This record gives sequence, structure tokens and C-alpha cells, in this order.
Amino acid sequence: MHETSGTVIPAEKVTLQQKELWLKIEEFLGKKLIALEELLQDFTASDVAAMQEMMDHMIGNRGKRLRPILLFLCGSFNPDAVDDYVLLRAAAAVELIHSASLIHDDIIDGAEERRGKPALNVLWGNRPAVLAGDFLFARSFELVASCGNFELIKVLTRTVSIMCEGEIEQGGHVFNLHLTEQQYLHNIYRKTAALMEACCSAGASLAGLADDAVLLFKAYGRHLGLAFQITDDVLDITGKSSLIGKPVRSDLREGIITLPLIYLLEDPVWGSHLREVIEKRDFSSIALSFLDYPDCINGPVRRALARAAAYIDEAKACLSGLGNVLPVEILKNLADFVLEREY
Ligand code: FPP
Ligand code: MG
Repeated sequence: MHETSGTVIPAEKVTLQQKELWLKIEEFLGKKLIALEELLQDFTASDVAAMQEMMDHMIGNRGKRLRPILLFLCGSFNPDAVDDYVLLRAAAAVELIHSASLIHDDIIDGAEERRGKPALNVLWGNRPAVLAGDFLFARSFELVASCGNFELIKVLTRTVSIMCEGEIEQGGHVFNLHLTEQQYLHNIYRKTAALMEACCSAGASLAGLADDAVLLFKAYGRHLGLAFQITDDVLDITGKSSLIGKPVRSDLREGIITLPLIYLLEDPVWGSHLREVIEKRDFSSIALSFLDYPDCINGPVRRALARAAAYIDEAKACLSGLGNVLPVEILKNLADFVLEREY
């Protein structure tokens, strides 16, 4: 068994390449990742038992720590200029922002599961869960403030406001059968890619890199984030809930029209079938079983994954001038992981 996303992934599902990637990350960032866990524990401590229990549930049930890893990696290109204390605090802050956003997202979506465990809103109810998200959000900005870096505060606060706009915008698109690919892409930039973009640009800025280099890392993060959300949306249709740690096909049930669904709606035969299911709001397993037919789903899924692959190529191209050093190799491998992941 292998633990990466909080769900326990059967060992046979973790490819050799993925094992090698996590080993490389440990080799390069080992001490920083241990310090990160300690800081996350410190900054989620509460004297109020129920809050502490919710924090343990959320932070203990760990994800891949992808966002702090991105910040550390992009912050590693100029070690003499970096203040490790600030880098570590910024890395912990982005993980707390991410966790806060997932708690609030699960309340908004009425989600039941997160990372293979019941969502916070299920175990404690919506009111305590809202406050747990607010608590994490506040603690993340206590961390950011302690860095004493106005630019970092500006980038992260602006990013959170963009994420909120993304969630509102997504709510406005619910069951919109006319959602365009362009509208979808704008939305996933706001809700997902903006934070990855901010992690990469913040890391590069904290390392004192020149503006044009910061912009390249920022673009890497943006493209990675767009590809990440597209693969997430594909996994919602084709994935296994035991691997992704949440029920499959919940996007459709919630009316979230994702890229593979936009493409499926364009299909002359299956498109009208999907339209009918959505219009009737019949999301029973039987009604959705057509999504299992290879004839129906393979085309839209392949097309969506090709879109994600194009973003991954663009992400990797941003790193082309940086030579063959280990952090570049890891950033490129992470990009491949985003495309190939099953969890
Ligand atoms: C998951 O998307 C959710 C997000 C990527 C962002 C959620 C953002 C907010 C709630 C606003 C920011 C709030 C704070 C407090 C920072 P998804 O529903 O597509 O993915 P899922 O299937 O994993 O839930
Ligand atoms: Mg959600």
C-alpha cells in the first residue's frame, strides 16, 4: 500500500515512475517537508476540542501536499537569496489556504467524502465546518503576515478572491447546457489554477528571481493547474472512487458541466442522450450507465485529456531554459504525474 493522496492507494496502482517521483521529492525536499508537517500541526492547534478534532481530521488526512511542494521547488533556484524561514511559512500557508478552500467547497457542493473519508460537513455539520474553513484561512494569513512580505500578502489575498469568484461563477453555470469550452477554462483557472500559479510565482519571487523568470514559473503553475483540473474532471467520470477518495460522477449530479461533458454534448448521438438526462435530472446509476459505454465516453475523454496534455507541454516548455537540475526534473515529472494520475 502507498499513501499519497490521503486515500490508501493499492500498491499496484502506483507506477514505478510515480514511486520514483515521490522518492526524488523526498530526496530533494525531505527536511523541508518534515518541517512543513510540524508547522502545519502548530498552526492548526486549538484549545477548543471540536476545532482541534476538525483540524486533525483535515490536516492529518493528508493530501499530496502538491501546492507547498510547488512553492518549495520554484523557490529552490537561488538558495543564497532565500530566507528558509519565510519559504517554509509561505509553503504552510498555501496548504492551509487549499485546505480551507476544500472545506468550504465541500459545504457548497454538499459533498459526502473527501480523501476517502467523510467530509467535515458530514461529520460535524455545515456550521462548524464553515468555521473550521474560516479558522484555517485566518491561520494561513497569520503565517503569511509573519513573513513580513507585502508582495506575498498581495499575491495570496488576490488569489483567494479569484478562487471565490471561481466558485460563484461555477454556481452560476450549474446545469448550463450551453457552457462553452472557453467559459469552462476561465472558470477552472479561477477555482484551481490561480492557486498553483500563485504557489509557483511566490516561490520564484521569494528566491529573488528576475521578473521574467518569475513569469515563467507563474505560467508553469497556471498550465499545470489547468491540466490538473481537467484530469480531475475526467477522473470524476472514469475514475474509481476508492482511488480518488470521493464518489464518482458527482460533477454531473451537481450540475457542474466539465470539459469531457462539454465534448460529449457535442456528440450527435450521445449528446442528446446526456441533454435529456440533465433536463430530466435523472442521475440514477441506471440513467448514467451510458457513460460506461466506450463508444460514448472514449472520444470526449481522449479529447479532454489531449487538451490537458497540451497544457502539460506548455508547462514543461516554461522550464526549458533552466538546464537539467533536479528541481527542474521534478517539476517536469510532476507535470507528467498530473496527466497520468488515477488519484
Ligand atoms: C474543488 O473543486 C474546489 C476548489 C478548487 C476551490 C474552492 C474555492 C473556494 C471554496 C473559495 C476559496 C475559499 C477559501 C476559504 C480559501 P471541485 O469541486 O471541482 O473538486 P472536488 O471534486 O475535489 O470537490
Ligand atoms: Mg467539490
